[in-house]
Amino acid sequence: PRKIIIDTDPGQDDAVAILLALASPEDVEVLGITAVAGNVPLPLTQKNARIICELAGKPATRVFAGCDAPLKRKLVTAEHVHGKTGLDGPQMADPVMPLQPEHAVDFIIETLRREPAHTVTLCPLGPLTNIATAFAKAPDIVARVQQIVLMGGAYFEVGNITPAAEFNIYVDPEAAEIVFKSGISLVVMPLDVTHKALTNRARVEAFRAIGNEAGRMVAEWTDFFERFDMQKYGSEGAPLHDPCVIAYLIRPGLFTGRHINVEIETRSELTLGMTVADWWGVTKRPANALFMGGVDAAGFYGLLTERLARL
Ligand code: BDR
Ligand code: CA
Repeated sequence: PRKIIIDTDPGQDDAVAILLALASPEDVEVLGITAVAGNVPLPLTQKNARIICELAGKPATRVFAGCDAPLKRKLVTAEHVHGKTGLDGPQMADPVMPLQPEHAVDFIIETLRREPAHTVTLCPLGPLTNIATAFAKAPDIVARVQQIVLMGGAYFEVGNITPAAEFNIYVDPEAAEIVFKSGISLVVMPLDVTHKALTNRARVEAFRAIGNEAGRMVAEWTDFFERFDMQKYGSEGAPLHDPCVIAYLIRPGLFTGRHINVEIETRSELTLGMTVADWWGVTKRPANALFMGGVDAAGFYGLLTERLARL
């Protein structure tokens, strides 16, 4: 299995990604989960991460709290999508498992220094604040990262938080710029992918029909945020963004994309946080990311349902 650190701001779709990872030990070994402020403030994201580990039946998973605000900006949250708790939908009890005492950034640094070089993959599912802070604090770890597979950005689909920007990149564009300029092998799951893998009635009912607690919760979460997405996009269902990252690690063949140059806009008021993706190769700027554009949606939902059934 690939050793991974999941950096996350749960968020219902983050929750599904974590469940998928914890249900797939033959493919990914979760060294730890690092929470960051994003969809909701940090006290909620770290708590939600622990709720999800318990739901997966994996209370020994280590969860760390990280940065509570972006590098240079005020935190922008997304309660309008995820609800007040970040995990609105079903009622869920507070977690019993502990939060680790160490700061998430220190955990990332120590793990990358301890594990053999190029054996740890970072999986950011929220704003990139923790990752960029770790790189700034310990530049020696950058060359030790195997790969970063992240959810963020958009090109043809453009923005969901502004007309030009996707939420994760918009919240901390300076952090995103550090990551995109790091030279690390980058795989990016933008809205262009996630909006091609929408839920529909049959897919949600398949989650419910699994008959376990995880399947029921995923169906209820989906029911909750579908209301928002269907109204906004007029589509049949809602995108399940973050699980695309974990699905890529399990079955990369579900996704197609291009090695291209992607730069982050950090100055413009109108297009702040835009991922300027040179999809057509019109610049001579060197490729720095495998930017995904296509997904086998049926295969993706099949994988999710099959793995959630194990929990
Ligand atoms: C991203 O923003 C968050 O609301 C989701 O969890 C996902 O990571 C989608 O733009
Ligand atoms: Ca997220």
